[in-house]
Amino acid sequence: MKRLVVLISGSGSNLQAIMDACAKGEIAARICAVVSNKADVMGLERARQAGIEAVTLEHKTFANREAFDLALAECIEGYQPDLIILAGFMRILTDAFVNRFAGKMINIHPSLLPKYPGLDTHQRALDAGDACAGASVHFVTAELDGGPVIAQRSVNISKDDDASSLARKVLAQEHRLYPEVVKWFVDGRLSLSRGKACLDHTELPTTGKRLETDAA
Ligand code: GAR
Repeated sequence: MKRLVVLISGSGSNLQAIMDACAKGEIAARICAVVSNKADVMGLERARQAGIEAVTLEHKTFANREAFDLALAECIEGYQPDLIILAGFMRILTDAFVNRFAGKMINIHPSLLPKYPGLDTHQRALDAGDACAGASVHFVTAELDGGPVIAQRSVNISKDDDASSLARKVLAQEHRLYPEVVKWFVDGRLSLSRGKACLDHTELPTTGKRLETDAA
């Protein structure tokens, strides 16, 4: 059974989707620990409810970014994970941390990368007059939200959408997208090879595999 560690900072609804897929046997893996850089967040409670070890490692108790990332890396390595899943983990990571886990760490981001790395993705899509928005899962590299994209799911933007309604629509797609990508990795179908995301030994396009777009 493959071993997963999930990093969170908040609500953990993506964590929940992955926990559910593991519980149903859709993903043949075990979540060994959920680690949060913030105390008392909903995601930690979700982990406890599922009988998963819930660890708080508060970044604000460390002298600097390097010290936190070192402690986090050591914490993660204690669980010997095959895959590290960033699910709403709102921290910029040091190069040393990222390089330590190269090829075995993925992130979900609420935009159709390479559009809108960083924050306020939904408002930026609305301001730009985009016809669609979505979410991307990518391998984590030293570039913020810039690693090779594995897969995306999109939603249509309707004229009534605001940033909150769009966030809700995209989040619902995230809950379908992330477990699917985790399953690919766990099944040995997904790898990072010479800086490219590969599925079934075939290099993916720069925007990853585009999963079916739903009507708005
Ligand atoms: C999700 O929308 C995720 O894409 C986003 O945070 C939210 C976490 O929700 N991540 C980022 O913005 C990372 N750059 P959740 O805690 O309910 O899974």
